[in-house]
Amino acid sequence: MKEIIVSGMRSTGKLHLGHYLGVIQNWVQLQDKYDCYFFVADWHALTTKYDKTDELRQHILEVVMDWLACGIDPEKSTIYVQSLVPEIAELNIYLGMITPQNWVERDPTLKDMAKILKTKEGQNSQINYGLMGYPVLMSSDIMMFNAHCVPVGIDQVAHIEITRDIARRFNNLYGEYFNEAKPILNHCSLICGLDGNKMGKSFNNDIKISDTAEETSKKVMSAITDRSRLRKDDPGHPDECEVAFKYWTIFGSEDEIETVKCECEKGLRGCAQCKRQLGDKINSTMAEFRQRRKYYEEHPEEVERIIEEGSAKARARAQEVLKEVRKLIKMY
Ligand code: TRP
Repeated sequence: MKEIIVSGMRSTGKLHLGHYLGVIQNWVQLQDKYDCYFFVADWHALTTKYDKTDELRQHILEVVMDWLACGIDPEKSTIYVQSLVPEIAELNIYLGMITPQNWVERDPTLKDMAKILKTKEGQNSQINYGLMGYPVLMSSDIMMFNAHCVPVGIDQVAHIEITRDIARRFNNLYGEYFNEAKPILNHCSLICGLDGNKMGKSFNNDIKISDTAEETSKKVMSAITDRSRLRKDDPGHPDECEVAFKYWTIFGSEDEIETVKCECEKGLRGCAQCKRQLGDKINSTMAEFRQRRKYYEEHPEEVERIIEEGSAKARARAQEVLKEVRKLIKMY
């Protein structure tokens, strides 16, 4: 029996290279070794976007299309939508009962989200009950399939700590049943945005998985390089090149990185030429993704079928777990 993996992403629309390099690439590699459950967290999206539901459905489809484009394979992994597995909501109720309030209050990721929300919506914006429950709902996602491992970005690790605490508490109260899920982190260094800050869709500095080759090339041309370099034959400083050289270290082969470094340091490679090549390089990595994405964009019924079948499969498994849970708690 393979070990179980659960991981998800909120349905916030089209994904970018940060999502791919930080999380999805890892998922793709784990598909063969584990029994994987990947889901779109539409309830988690509602914790902050409950007033913007017009886009919800389209956002779910975009996320799933991006996953499929990157190589998540519905033959290997179970792809589903959180709200199509309502058993998670029932588990969420039980877990909420055994979670002390201060465990959620001290969750650092939640504190950050609350801070961002306050700056966006003004000082007197209230945190809603659903957002306070974010870590418990996330624990329900993970425990619903009794996961062993959860591949996520570093920002989610605190949530998984709470999940482990809740699992331990459940096991102590009702009997040994749940695994204490471990996070799996990606070793790839975090990709920054085109302006050198954290890549994010609201910062307008991202390259989307769904961008065309032309859009990607154009965006790469806007990337920041070595700010101290004025003329193209001045010797450059790859280590001070804020974005372009960092991207080379992610997308280039060892030889290519070495060539770029040497030519830049000797003043044999201008920044514009360098970024043109970099754009081509990124585009050749993404070509396969774009082809697959195009196929799914033209066959939305297939994306819907994948979601429906995956959700039905996930639901059947969730029902088995929930039956055990109800028995252990001694529900009627
Ligand atoms: N909170 C995660 C994020 O923002 C999404 C998520 C929800 C998740 N439930 C999960 C990730 C369960 C892993 C496991 O990215």
